[in-house]
Amino acid sequence: MNLPQAIIYLSSSSLISFLFYCLGILCLTSATVSASYGGNETDYLALLSFKSMITHDPYKVLTSWNHSFHFCDWSGISCGKRHKRVTVLRLYSKGLEGSLSPHIGDLSFLQLWLAQNNLSGSIPKEMGLLSKLGTLAIHYNKLTGGISPFLGNITSMERFSAVGNPFGGSIPDTLGLWKSLKEFYLGECNLYGSIPDSIFNLSLLVTFSLAGNHLTGSLPSEIGNQLPNLEFLQLRDNELAGVLPPAISNCSKLRFLEMSQNNFSGKLTIDFSKLRDIYYINLAKNNFHGRGEADDMRFIDSLKNCTGLVYLGLSNCNLTGVLPISIGNLSDQLRFLSLLENQLFGSLPSSIGSLVGLSTLRLELNQFKGKIPTTIGNLQKLQVLSLFSNQFSGPIPDVIGNLSLLTQLNLDSNKLEGHIPSSLGNCKELNVLNLADNRLSGKIPSQLLQLPSLTILLNLSRNNLFGSIPSEIKDLKMLSELDLSYNNLSGTITSSLGECISLTVLNLSGNLFQGIIPSSLSSLGGLQVLDISQNNLTGKIPQFLDKWVSLEFLNLSFNDFEGEVPVVGVFSNASAFSVLGNDRLCGGLVTLELPKCKDVLQKL
Ligand SMILES: *[C@@H]1O[C@H](CO)[C@@H](O)[C@H](O)[C@H]1NC(C)=O
Ligand SMILES: *[C@@H]1O[C@H](CO)[C@@H](O)[C@H](O)[C@H]1NC(C)=O
Ligand SMILES: *[C@@H]1O[C@H](CO)[C@@H](O)[C@H](O)[C@H]1NC(C)=O
Ligand SMILES: *[C@@H]1O[C@H](CO)[C@@H](O)[C@H](O)[C@H]1NC(C)=O
Ligand SMILES: *[C@@H]1O[C@H](CO)[C@@H](O)[C@H](O)[C@H]1NC(C)=O
Ligand SMILES: *[C@@H]1O[C@H](CO)[C@@H](O)[C@H](O)[C@H]1NC(C)=O
Ligand SMILES: *[C@@H]1O[C@H](CO)[C@@H](O)[C@H](O)[C@H]1NC(C)=O
Ligand SMILES: *[C@@H]1O[C@H](CO)[C@@H](O)[C@H](O)[C@H]1NC(C)=O
Ligand SMILES: *[C@@H]1O[C@H](CO)[C@@H](O)[C@H](O)[C@H]1NC(C)=O
Ligand SMILES: *[C@@H]1O[C@H](CO)[C@@H](O)[C@H](O)[C@H]1NC(C)=O
Ligand SMILES: *[C@@H]1O[C@H](CO)[C@@H](O)[C@H](O)[C@H]1NC(C)=O
Ligand SMILES: *[C@@H]1O[C@H](CO)[C@@H](O)[C@H](O)[C@H]1NC(C)=O
Repeated sequence: MNLPQAIIYLSSSSLISFLFYCLGILCLTSATVSASYGGNETDYLALLSFKSMITHDPYKVLTSWNHSFHFCDWSGISCGKRHKRVTVLRLYSKGLEGSLSPHIGDLSFLQLWLAQNNLSGSIPKEMGLLSKLGTLAIHYNKLTGGISPFLGNITSMERFSAVGNPFGGSIPDTLGLWKSLKEFYLGECNLYGSIPDSIFNLSLLVTFSLAGNHLTGSLPSEIGNQLPNLEFLQLRDNELAGVLPPAISNCSKLRFLEMSQNNFSGKLTIDFSKLRDIYYINLAKNNFHGRGEADDMRFIDSLKNCTGLVYLGLSNCNLTGVLPISIGNLSDQLRFLSLLENQLFGSLPSSIGSLVGLSTLRLELNQFKGKIPTTIGNLQKLQVLSLFSNQFSGPIPDVIGNLSLLTQLNLDSNKLEGHIPSSLGNCKELNVLNLADNRLSGKIPSQLLQLPSLTILLNLSRNNLFGSIPSEIKDLKMLSELDLSYNNLSGTITSSLGECISLTVLNLSGNLFQGIIPSSLSSLGGLQVLDISQNNLTGKIPQFLDKWVSLEFLNLSFNDFEGEVPVVGVFSNASAFSVLGNDRLCGGLVTLELPKCKDVLQKL
């Protein structure tokens, strides 16, 4: 007799459940066991026991589980055609709450579909009796009580998924008995301890995920030779330590490698050249600093054979050295490249311009120096370019204006000089532009202000810009944060600034602005921070300022304002504003220790 392999479903994530769904249908149609017409009393009682332990059934799916019908006709149940044994329990995402009956172990031909429910309690150890079970999928429930070592008895197991249950405890080494196992998902399960050696003996494993637990210990040096069939290896977000074993170079079928957020250390020596099918590599947030010998970056050379690579995440890896020219030989499919927050120095190779598939390039928080290569203009698909906190010098290349899909450009905290290229006005999708803290000079190009897409940030602070604010600033109607502080900007504050009605932060401090605060600014009632300190502004403090309810901080210090300081609104809280260094002010909160206002002065 050809017995069907049983499957249990108490879970779901869309991908996994899709795979499992297909499998379930297969098993259902292959059921060939014969039994009496009435079906099996054991199954009937097991189902009633299951129902009795469900405490909440918001969609009333279990109402039909009553004497009026044969259990094979109950909602969510399918039976084998001839033998009338329960083969499928399809209760996917029904909001069920309660715990699992131990009698589930009696449903010898079962596949349970209870995905995305709220089942709690522990996995009954009786489940270990389901010796024909091929798939156990109990993801996204609220099961606790650890992973029972008894499950190791289900040696027929091929697919096991328990992602997203707060089990706790450690991984039992008896799971190493699952010699047929191909898929193993045990992420986000609150697991502690090390990964038992026996797991690395499961040589048929294709998919292996233990992401988001608290696992410690190191990986066996032979991992790649023990698990030659691995396609998906995901151990991110644990506390695994030691070296990332070079034997991973031998997992030639690997397509997905995610080891980010662990404590891996030592020089990265994986040879990626045999991993021809890999499309995703994320090793971020580890410490791959070598011992000061040659260069931590040679592994980049071996990536050129990975012709389908789409994602390369190497941020916060403590990598030290020069980015090799071979970076340009990476796949033209590469969409995401991050090397942020390492210790890379030397120049950025112009070969970077060969990575024409890139949409995100993040190199910030390193020590790159020299010019930004003009080949950057070839990266026509770029949306995010982040080079801040390096030591780039020379001009911002005009060709940046060719990057018409750019949404974010962060070049701040470098040593860039020359003018701000007016070609940036071609970047019609830009919503963040940060050029702060450089050595840029010249005027603010009006083209820059004619980008209605600029909604989040325009920061040109701490440069040597001069001239006045172009009246085109009025086009930035959706802009939230504008910072022009610490430049040599002069003239009056243009009244058209009053049309930037979405501003929440406006900083014009440390410039040479003079004249009065224009009354048009009264429309900026959404401001939370207004800093116009350290200019040469004059006139009275406008009345509208004390009426802005969102205003959290107002800095008027070191100007030449005169007249009375109000005592209401933002002016009622001494820590929310500053009027220091304005010798002609009077009144205000007593703590300001300003002279009393004379009536005659107030009227002036
Ligand atoms: C019902 O199934 C159980 C467990 O598989 C078995 O022990 C029992 O003999 C079956 N009963 C009938 C009537 O088939
Ligand atoms: C039995 O199930 C049917 C179908 O859902 C339902 O109409 C009927 O009310 C149920 N009977 C009882 C006694 O719950
Ligand atoms: C699980 O329960 C929580 C509240 O305890 C609820 O918000 C959530 O929708 C439930 N999930 C399902 C799939 O029913
Ligand atoms: C099932 O596994 C447990 C723990 O691994 C073991 O003690 C027990 O003998 C096994 N039961 C059967 C029926 O094999
Ligand atoms: C791994 O498998 C080998 C060969 O089957 C066996 O000798 C060894 O004891 C197993 N190791 C573990 C940790 O299960
Ligand atoms: C990779 O496999 C080959 C052939 O089995 C073996 O000689 C080599 O030592 C392995 N490499 C690593 C780093 O384990
Ligand atoms: C892993 O690194 C974190 C942060 O550096 C540290 O707090 C933790 O103690 C380390 N854990 C282990 C197991 O080494
Ligand atoms: C890498 O690619 C080159 C050129 O396609 C090929 O000659 C070489 O054998 C590949 N290396 C490996 C280890 O597959
Ligand atoms: C980088 O690695 C060096 C050498 O191992 C170490 O001294 C330093 O603390 C590491 N830095 C970070 C940020 O982990
Ligand atoms: C690497 O790219 C350069 C151009 O940047 C090219 O000349 C060279 O042939 C490439 N090497 C390989 C092995 O593809
Ligand atoms: C790229 O930018 C340069 C300088 O701004 C310009 O001359 C050239 O026409 C642009 N090329 C394309 C394809 O847009
Ligand atoms: C401030 O403005 C006054 C007149 O408006 C001018 O005399 C003075 O030089 C200015 N001070 C600075 C530092 O620009």
